[in-house]
Amino acid sequence: MSERASKPDEERNADPGSGSASTAGDDGERPGTYGEYGGQYVPEALMPAIEELDDVYERYVLENDEGFMDDFEARIRDFGGRPTPLQHAEQLSERYDFEVYLKREDLLHGGAHKLNNALGQCLLAKYMDKERIVAETGAGQHGTATAMAAAHLGLDCEIYMGERDIRRQRPNVFRMRLNGAQVNPVEAGRGTLKEAISETMRDWATTVEDTHYVIGSVVGPHPFPAMVRDFHRVIAEEIREQSIEKFDALPTSVVACAGGGSNTMGAFAAFTDSEDSAVGLVAVEAGGSSLSVDEDRGVAPNSASLSTGSEGVLHGARTKLLQDGYGQIMESHSISSGLDYAGVGPELANLVDTGRVRAVAVDDDRALEGFHRLSQEEGIIPALETAHAIAWLDEADSAEVGERVVLNVSGRGDKDLESALEETAKRDLDIAPDMHVFDAQAMTDSDEVAETNGQDVNEGAQ
Ligand SMILES: Cc1ncc(COP(=O)(O)O)c(C=O)c1O
Repeated sequence: MSERASKPDEERNADPGSGSASTAGDDGERPGTYGEYGGQYVPEALMPAIEELDDVYERYVLENDEGFMDDFEARIRDFGGRPTPLQHAEQLSERYDFEVYLKREDLLHGGAHKLNNALGQCLLAKYMDKERIVAETGAGQHGTATAMAAAHLGLDCEIYMGERDIRRQRPNVFRMRLNGAQVNPVEAGRGTLKEAISETMRDWATTVEDTHYVIGSVVGPHPFPAMVRDFHRVIAEEIREQSIEKFDALPTSVVACAGGGSNTMGAFAAFTDSEDSAVGLVAVEAGGSSLSVDEDRGVAPNSASLSTGSEGVLHGARTKLLQDGYGQIMESHSISSGLDYAGVGPELANLVDTGRVRAVAVDDDRALEGFHRLSQEEGIIPALETAHAIAWLDEADSAEVGERVVLNVSGRGDKDLESALEETAKRDLDIAPDMHVFDAQAMTDSDEVAETNGQDVNEGAQ
């Protein structure tokens, strides 16, 4: 469903006589709604698939029918490599007035948290006797994780990816192909995540009989946001257990970057109950180049829908969005493909509205500084998405975040090396290594690079 089509759907679904979208527009207490947000704003053609998914989510995920969750847990351990470590970051802890612990989701198979959900949903497809998987991807991490999970389970797999993102994330495109997935470029719009989701939904609407749509974040119509959160909940459960083991207490704060919100919800899920209200929860979104929006041109130079968005419907759910005065979705922007999305998960939007989660934004320049900081100070090259959360530590007030901050390292930065090189070369960042050997001419002429006569590419970066 395209965002243009979302208005008529919203109106139709608001009509109780329409016969579909039973949870849309309800009082927030029925499953699938979170305060004002959530619901099932989908075309009629998709309702049977959504209802089927709702049933199997309850049966297999919530009730562990046929030992589904035991099967999932065994696979995410043996194939995925869980549990991931909770590591004390010694250098960062010296730098700040609080201790920093890193939840190392970058060490999960595939290099990001995304596998938790991709494996869970591919396994669910198997239990549903579906043979084909479709998925969208932005940074390519979800596509990669889905291609891996599909290969592991013997399922056919097609991934939709915006053309711009294909250019930004070439290594991940190759990884998907290596795992046997077909990658379908999406040319519409800006060629990023929003268009890829719309295109995947279009495919699913005509292939639901044998196909499952493995959505990549806590977005979309119910039950996707709840189901994706539940597959990622293991992150928060491990943080809880490992914190008690390591420092005999719960963290005082948990910090995670937020695009659609899956690593955020995964890291927060075991702390949202009222008895854990002392644990601060911070969602760091992409401030892009500026938090201001150009309504006339329909452009938001950021992806900070929690901080600057307003209520609307996108991709099957009511949530916070970057939209113009007519409800048209704005072009978003972020240095990181995985945060470059005009919406956010409905549960996270509600947790921000109710004050349980604090939303903050970090701009492109500072995110790049965070990328270099974790690389240099801790020996971990993070994904550009994660780098937003790292950079935010610089402005965190110890009186607010407390003594023990757990930061979710949602992914590793291998996929971002080309972008990080290009973006660093454009800027004058004190923290960056000397970039002169990577100047524009050298990058476009590999022969010239070879002729740098043994010049050390790390010169100045010791
Ligand atoms: C490493 C990494 N972190 C974070 C994100 C943002 O997604 P989400 O907000 O769903 O965790 C992505 C998206 O691709 C990602 O690849």
